Amino acid sequence: MTFERFTMNDENSTQQIKKYTFYTSSQNSNSNSKEELEILIPEKEKSAGYSLFTWRCAPLLAWFLWDRRKALPNLKILEIGCGTALPGILAAKCGAHVTLSDSCTLPKTLHNIRNSCLLNNLQPGKDIDVIGLSWGVLQNNIFTLGPIDYIIASDCFYDPSVFEDILATISFLLDRNPSAKFIFSYQVRSSDWSIEALLKKWNLSAVNINVDPIGRESGLDLNDLLGSHTIQLLEITKS
Ligand SMILES: C[S@@+](CC[C@H](N)C(=O)[O-])C[C@H]1O[C@@H](n2cnc3c(N)ncnc32)[C@H](O)[C@@H]1O
Repeated sequence: MTFERFTMNDENSTQQIKKYTFYTSSQNSNSNSKEELEILIPEKEKSAGYSLFTWRCAPLLAWFLWDRRKALPNLKILEIGCGTALPGILAAKCGAHVTLSDSCTLPKTLHNIRNSCLLNNLQPGKDIDVIGLSWGVLQNNIFTLGPIDYIIASDCFYDPSVFEDILATISFLLDRNPSAKFIFSYQVRSSDWSIEALLKKWNLSAVNINVDPIGRESGLDLNDLLGSHTIQLLEITKS
């Protein structure tokens, strides 16, 4: 992964605009033309808030989507707990119809997400949608969502107290979109955490997605992306 930083001072903390570059290797692709996509993400330090920082799970999910960019045009994708929204913005830049969401109790985060969209020439309300959607709460926004092919999330399973709220929301959305899939990246922070009982309770099935081939064709070094962290990808569907 390559990224560059541009630092700016905000009223309370430093904001940097990070540039993430996704690319193909002309050597490995069938055509001779090298593809490249740059995404700009405004970020603050972790201490400024979980939703204003891009977590390591996000580039992994974004690269997974980049590998599948040819299949993305016109797919309807909802990103939950999107924070700085790298995966969802990448999907939108590749032609998917994307709705980005984060907690409806975080207006600054939703404002930051809209800024991220604009920085990447995506007009909220026209090229991409941004909504407040809190897990485990059946509020208006969730009923007005159109059809969905994929729900995506990165690093939302970071605290066991929210696992059931997320899966209840996913179960509700998959009931309304029976052929949809929920694909998410998560960091293994404790071997003691499990969603198995909750999957059963909410009538959901999960399979692991092998992360090893992610970015391989582009010459990406996965170790560079993940560092010393264990990050996995999972796909959940209705049982
Ligand atoms: C660890 S951050 C991950 C952010 C981003 N997806 C990433 O990987 O960089 C967790 C995200 O979940 C959001 N979140 C936390 N509780 C939530 C809730 N109850 N409903 C919706 N979003 C929530 C936070 O605002 C934050 O954006």
